Amino acid sequence: MTTVTPSTAGVFDSFADAVGNTPLVRLNRVVDDIRATVYVKLEYLNPGGSVKDRAALFMLRAAEESGELRPGGTVVEATSGNTGLGLAALAAARGYRTIVVVPDKVSQEKKALLRAHGAEVIVTPGLRPVDHPEHLRSVALRLVEEIPGAWFAGQYDNPANPAAHRATTGPEIWSQTGGRITHFVAGVGTGGTITGTGEYLKEASGGTVRVIGADPETSVYGGGDGRVWYIEAVGHILHPETETDLWPDSYHREVVDSIQRIPDVESIRVLHRLAKEEGLLLGGSSGTAIAAALRTARGLGPEDVVVVVAPDSGRAYLSKYYSDEWLGSLGFPLTGAVEGPTVGDVLGDPVASDAVLTVPSRATVAEARELLGDAAALPVVLQRSTSGPTVASEILGAVTGAGLAGAPADDVVSAHLSAALPLAGTTAPVREVIARIAEHEGPVVITHEGRIVAVVDSARIEAGS
Ligand SMILES: Cc1ncc(COP(=O)(O)O)c(C=O)c1O
Repeated sequence: MTTVTPSTAGVFDSFADAVGNTPLVRLNRVVDDIRATVYVKLEYLNPGGSVKDRAALFMLRAAEESGELRPGGTVVEATSGNTGLGLAALAAARGYRTIVVVPDKVSQEKKALLRAHGAEVIVTPGLRPVDHPEHLRSVALRLVEEIPGAWFAGQYDNPANPAAHRATTGPEIWSQTGGRITHFVAGVGTGGTITGTGEYLKEASGGTVRVIGADPETSVYGGGDGRVWYIEAVGHILHPETETDLWPDSYHREVVDSIQRIPDVESIRVLHRLAKEEGLLLGGSSGTAIAAALRTARGLGPEDVVVVVAPDSGRAYLSKYYSDEWLGSLGFPLTGAVEGPTVGDVLGDPVASDAVLTVPSRATVAEARELLGDAAALPVVLQRSTSGPTVASEILGAVTGAGLAGAPADDVVSAHLSAALPLAGTTAPVREVIARIAEHEGPVVITHEGRIVAVVDSARIEAGS
């Protein structure tokens, strides 16, 4: 028999006790000619699979201590998924019921994971202003009012969220780098991670650690117009009908020294490189954060140490950032080489289009008829006051002559929508697109890097095959 030296390291009494103490892994290949050291903190190695286990645990404990959550109670949260997952796992182990309200853009995998933990999942439609009754927060608050013993976790405004990172993520990084960290990079969703960790690291270093936010390009945190984007769980959108834009209390913007604004395509390219060159299969917001870390590190010297948080794993996004079908429908780079010509090859790059005609959602039926002219159909998109290319996920449907037949001229067009037109990205192989739209005659929306760049007749794509 081999003798063993007893060790309790890595042995825990419960799921809750296993949260935190995630590893830092150095990036070796995607750093190209960068001289600084870049470490990624792998938060998917938390027991619930994401950084959100930390906030979920601290919020739940605080509610139990304050008496807001009692035995037999119900945990309710509005979340893009991971916080719900952490809460559902912790609640399952403690005997609470869990209801999670998620936006419809959340991946199928995340919804399935929540249900697997016994959580009830309520899907709300996307693209609603924050004060709308169907906005996920309004739905969650209504449930809390209706269900006796229900507690709303409220990660956006719950001080236990940033407190979790002040107490755990910050001290872990300080100790793991032996106090050598010079730059801390994290995405901003609720702001809990960057606020708590940033505040701790600034204090521990006497104010020398620089804190850099990673934000989707159009998010309002970094100064964008709030147009939607495709990387889940980070940034802050601004619906054009939102009257007062509220930023979360969990985000203390004064802790952030600068923000890197990262286009979706850059996040996705970084994700694909990390999987292929570093062995790291990470979630979308990790791509955004690591892209920001690489930008930051490019200007630094060999003494500098950058630590970036990777919030979750790519396993929950196989149907998105790692799916050639999804990537191709939006004109993002595919994961591998493409066989045969792409839609971009056939249509020309940039895609030649007389005009990218879309119908704004608040147009009248008369205006829509005029825009439609002789065309068979046009996409109807969420109306914005700012200019710039429309993101494909802001397509609400389509107008067609038949769909508008008999509609009163001064009705708003969004009351007379037909089914949305098929999407074809510039990066998609023509063969795949033709197979997918075989049943469709008429216009197709062409996308490039997530945005609408043209509306062309399907015959133009078929002619190039
Ligand atoms: C995958 C992922 N990335 C990033 C974040 C943002 O972190 P925070 O809310 O602490 O700003 C979240 C939060 O839900 C997340 O789930």
